[in-house]
Amino acid sequence: MIYLDNAATSWPKAPGVAEAIAASVLEPIGNVGRSSHAAALAANGILYKCRSLVMHFIPPTSIEKVVFTRNATEALNLALFGSLQSGATVLTTPMEHNAVGRPIHQLALRDVRIEVCPCDDFGRIDAEIFRAELRRTRPSLAVFTAASNVTGAINPVETMVADCVSQGVPYVVDAAQSIGELPRWQFPDIGDGAVCFSLHKSLLGPAGVGVIALYGKFRPRPLYYGGTGSLSDSIFQPEFLPDCYESGTPAIHAIAGCASALEYCHTHESEIQNQRKLMGGLLQAGLLRFPELRMLSPDADRLPVISVTTRSRSISALTNALYTAGIAVRTGFHCAPLAHQRLGSTQAGGAVRFSPGFATTESEINQILAIVEGALRG
Ligand SMILES: Cc1ncc(COP(=O)(O)O)c(C=O)c1O
Repeated sequence: MIYLDNAATSWPKAPGVAEAIAASVLEPIGNVGRSSHAAALAANGILYKCRSLVMHFIPPTSIEKVVFTRNATEALNLALFGSLQSGATVLTTPMEHNAVGRPIHQLALRDVRIEVCPCDDFGRIDAEIFRAELRRTRPSLAVFTAASNVTGAINPVETMVADCVSQGVPYVVDAAQSIGELPRWQFPDIGDGAVCFSLHKSLLGPAGVGVIALYGKFRPRPLYYGGTGSLSDSIFQPEFLPDCYESGTPAIHAIAGCASALEYCHTHESEIQNQRKLMGGLLQAGLLRFPELRMLSPDADRLPVISVTTRSRSISALTNALYTAGIAVRTGFHCAPLAHQRLGSTQAGGAVRFSPGFATTESEINQILAIVEGALRG
């Protein structure tokens, strides 16, 4: 198999991940915050280590504001359901993943008004237009993806956050695709908001762990209440962080794997990013040679996420050829139906998305391009 579906989840995982998970199972690891015996303290240590490593990849915040969730979807649900109430207005973009789109459409049923900032034909938000939309709509919250999971287009996150902050609007950044792919953002005025992501994509960790990093005074209501280990004698949820949001036993073994992945990503950051960038560029240049395909991804300011759709027929023949040849790509709507509507790719059945990883080689890209050529010419 040639694996080019790293935007869905990374493979291979970072070297050392399997060993770290195995060690966390083979050694006595207790539950977090539940006791002070050595095994429970070892579990606390795993969470602490992973939390501190996450801080290398996000704008500075304090460690207790790095809250673990199951994935980016849960982090985004917490941010949105926990902060938007009837009568509120949310400003968003046409390019959101269902992890944002579905919660806000549920909230719309509870009288939350959705305003959509327009984007260009590649799904990019223009910072000037976003600023004007903030002024026009005066939202209670702005939620936007840092980079599209369909076209890879990167948004001007630092400017967008700065505008939210200057207009006193809390922000929620969906960094699921971009975390680990871009230099760490600097938010000069931090304001109130959150950055949400998973650790299993570009950060090369195992599935099962997400993060909501909180900034300023942004404190959504918890989604879950229950055992935290702390304040065990109280019937009320602790109000302090991160316990307030971390109810129930965390995915300790996955978090052990994630800590190892983050260590690897931190020490090999530019090497990993350069390889992905290079492979993304080769793939895009190769796909642009086929006039039957419409390139959805911009050639600059994008992640190594390259999507094409077909001009005159459905993508199904191309999809079948790739799957038959053992190429793992993501086809269809990428959990972003409104993005495909905006891009005009709904009719063709969506798009074929190629997302190389740090282990992708030039020879694999050439094999894929040959299969695409065969499918289009055959
Ligand atoms: C932009 C974006 N947001 C959110 C998500 C949800 O991530 P997860 O499935 O890890 O919750 C994804 C996953 O593909 C994504 O691409």
